Amino acid sequence: MSPDFDRYSRAQLERRTGVKWHRDGAAILPAWVADMDFPIAREVTAAMQNLISTDDLGYPDPALDEAVRQAFAARVARRYRLVVDPERVVVVSDVVQAIYLCLLAYTEPGDGVAFLTPAYPPFFSAVADTGRRALVCDLIAGPQRYELDLARLRSVVHEGNARMILLCNPHNPTGRSFSAAELAGIAEIAIENDLPVVSDEIHADLTLRGSSHVAYGSLGGPAAAQSVTLSSASKAFNLAGLRCAVAAFGSEELQERFARFPRHARGSVSVLGMVAAIAAWERGDGWLETALEVLADNRAVLEGWARERLGDRALLSPEATYLAWLDLRAHGLGDNPAVWLREHARVALSPGPDFGAPGAGHARLNFATTPALLEEMLERISSALEAGTSAPR
Ligand SMILES: Cc1ncc(COP(=O)(O)O)c(C=O)c1O
Repeated sequence: MSPDFDRYSRAQLERRTGVKWHRDGAAILPAWVADMDFPIAREVTAAMQNLISTDDLGYPDPALDEAVRQAFAARVARRYRLVVDPERVVVVSDVVQAIYLCLLAYTEPGDGVAFLTPAYPPFFSAVADTGRRALVCDLIAGPQRYELDLARLRSVVHEGNARMILLCNPHNPTGRSFSAAELAGIAEIAIENDLPVVSDEIHADLTLRGSSHVAYGSLGGPAAAQSVTLSSASKAFNLAGLRCAVAAFGSEELQERFARFPRHARGSVSVLGMVAAIAAWERGDGWLETALEVLADNRAVLEGWARERLGDRALLSPEATYLAWLDLRAHGLGDNPAVWLREHARVALSPGPDFGAPGAGHARLNFATTPALLEEMLERISSALEAGTSAPR
């Protein structure tokens, strides 16, 4: 591994002010919120330092907004054959904000919104907070990976009278990168029912060795025209605190409906966030390649450990993301194993039930950390399981 990637010692990480390391204190190793323990790309820090060292922190010029839109369009065209007109991109503060705005723009109170479960927890809260109905379709654990049940999705959409599909690809928490065929199946359902598909692709750049990302909008035709792609440099480049994201619309109509909320009500983005996103997208690929190697190596360690300590099917290998969705039901740790693991292993994972009903007996482990810390986490969990402390009921 590049020596740079484990530059921060445990003691330095413990002094970080971000929520990941700060929430629980030093006794608990954090493997929950989706932040990485790596140093960020030098290209990104240099761009931000340039602004800071020249006291250049005034209101951003519209040209900077345009540069973000262009950098995004150029990047997704180059990497994912996703054709985006920079004029059809809106810069927002974060992806979850854009999900809320899409719900408000494309659906009415009481409308059904379909999504795959387990699901990134804000999908549930966004749908509930806006007074929409969650229509969930469980992914099925197959022999190698989580599988999409298109027949079930079709009936969920029909029976619940869905008005929008909210997709997460690559999928948090299972790490699935949906194939072109799977996405085409979703598109067929969306087109049959005239539904916009809002595709949260924030994890696209975290597609790991052996897999590839297919952007929903790259399907082209009516599927692309009815889609909104949400993304940000924040996840792959570890900049979540900076707040800068994009929404790319497949049609002028979808963009206009979204933009009906006044700009000031939508909030705005900081110059640091914009400059960092441009630097990451235009000059960060060398850093990203190394990060992906570190993550793929961590994934291999985790897989070996899970097979040996948790059982053959406890971890279906993630194709993307640095998140491992662990099925701990065979271990008698109750519905929410994260509670048990925190208490007995002193490792904080994300609670499975937060990801919906299929999350019972599961927990999500963030492996974007140094190999040494990952090893310590796994040892702590192994020892706690061996000690076999009785599970909370
Ligand atoms: C699928 C998904 N969408 C959105 C986000 C958060 O993005 P933002 O901080 O831009 O709202 C995350 C964070 O982990 C995520 O996993």
